[in-house]
Amino acid sequence: MKQAIIEQAKSILNSNFKKEQGFTIPCEGLYPFQWNWDSGFIAIGFAHFDIEKAKQEVITLLKGQWGNGFIPHILFHNDSDTYFPGPEFHQSKLHHLASQQVNTTGMTQPPVLGFALKELYEIVDDKQDILHFISSQIDKVFENHKYFYNNRDPKNEGLVYIYHNWESGTDNSPIWDDIWETFTPPQYDFERRDTTHVDSSQRPTNREYDYYLYLIELAKQHHYNDKKIAETSPFLVQDPLFNAMLIKSNEALIDLYTIIGDNTSKIDTLSKWQKKSKTNFNSKLFNKELGAYVHYDLRNEKQIPFVSSSSFAALYANIPNPEQAKTLVNTMMTKFGNDDQYLCASFDPTHDRFNPRKYWRGPVWINLNWMLYYGLKHYNFNDIAKRLKEDTVALVTKYGFYEYFDSRKLERPDEKGGYGGNNFSWSAALIIDILTKEK
Ligand code: SER
Repeated sequence: MKQAIIEQAKSILNSNFKKEQGFTIPCEGLYPFQWNWDSGFIAIGFAHFDIEKAKQEVITLLKGQWGNGFIPHILFHNDSDTYFPGPEFHQSKLHHLASQQVNTTGMTQPPVLGFALKELYEIVDDKQDILHFISSQIDKVFENHKYFYNNRDPKNEGLVYIYHNWESGTDNSPIWDDIWETFTPPQYDFERRDTTHVDSSQRPTNREYDYYLYLIELAKQHHYNDKKIAETSPFLVQDPLFNAMLIKSNEALIDLYTIIGDNTSKIDTLSKWQKKSKTNFNSKLFNKELGAYVHYDLRNEKQIPFVSSSSFAALYANIPNPEQAKTLVNTMMTKFGNDDQYLCASFDPTHDRFNPRKYWRGPVWINLNWMLYYGLKHYNFNDIAKRLKEDTVALVTKYGFYEYFDSRKLERPDEKGGYGGNNFSWSAALIIDILTKEK
């Protein structure tokens, strides 16, 4: 059974791999290009059975890196008319340091590459070969972190901001609803493509898309200049998932540079960032009342007091002390851990904004589960980690390799519980990782 799931996952990854351009689409139709954080997770999956494809994924992603270290969220290596908004909308070349090799977006996504490289190192047996590869790429990832700390941290707190909900990865989370209340975008005339692939009840609304497009239009007016965006964007958020992933990647870069040797000054710089980031993450993003990390609205200077799966990502990055970790896991189990729920819903199932079918407003996502699984194990919450893993494997076994899953344990066996794109690359990649590393 386990081997059959792994084989199916491998064949999904292989068929989503685009040989000519050297990258893997998240899935056919809905996401026909290279996505930043998808690529990091995909590389981890490939590392278990085809390391050359894993390396290629990373190399191709870094081809889109800008002159200032920025790594964009989508790289348009190929033409496709199945996705909106495409390269002609984003116009990345408005920025004077944008990649000249490939059209991209002008926004980024959670920084996965640092910890993905470390995973590659750990998974692969031929350490010499993989270290040689990592040595050829790691400085580009360091430059990316330097970009974040120099350009996305206006208050010098070690907490970087995102200026668009698509940068968070958790696109239409209810977290953003209150921010949408603070401004009114025009109604755009545009043709959705996502809802031709996926039932619209599982995707953001047209009105939400107006907000998404408007934020891009504002950034374009400033030629994607970070300083101007920080001064003017109505969406400016310190996101606990994004920052936890940056912190986890800092840690990975420190470990890798230590293994490589001769990189003292980069290790010193990373350690300084790391210390500041962790300290302020704990003091600024922890909400005592909720017993969880929350988002901080930097534009309106206040916490956004909702619990989501992003609230728990800090476990993966070794951020909370043991006491805080206990509080955090208690919050997770009280709100998200009922027996009628699969772990871990993307938004608080006890809240009235929860919707178990709609994109990031409630369903379970495999990449968040993967992070939480290793985070829980790290803090020795072994029973909960075990349940989380069993739930994750159960969802994929029951419904297939979907993009996201209904968090409710549905009664009727024929009820469809897998949503969004099917044959989804990161769901496949991370199931391979979890099942292969299984003791
Ligand atoms: N996930 C976004 C979309 O749905 C873009 O990153 O299009």
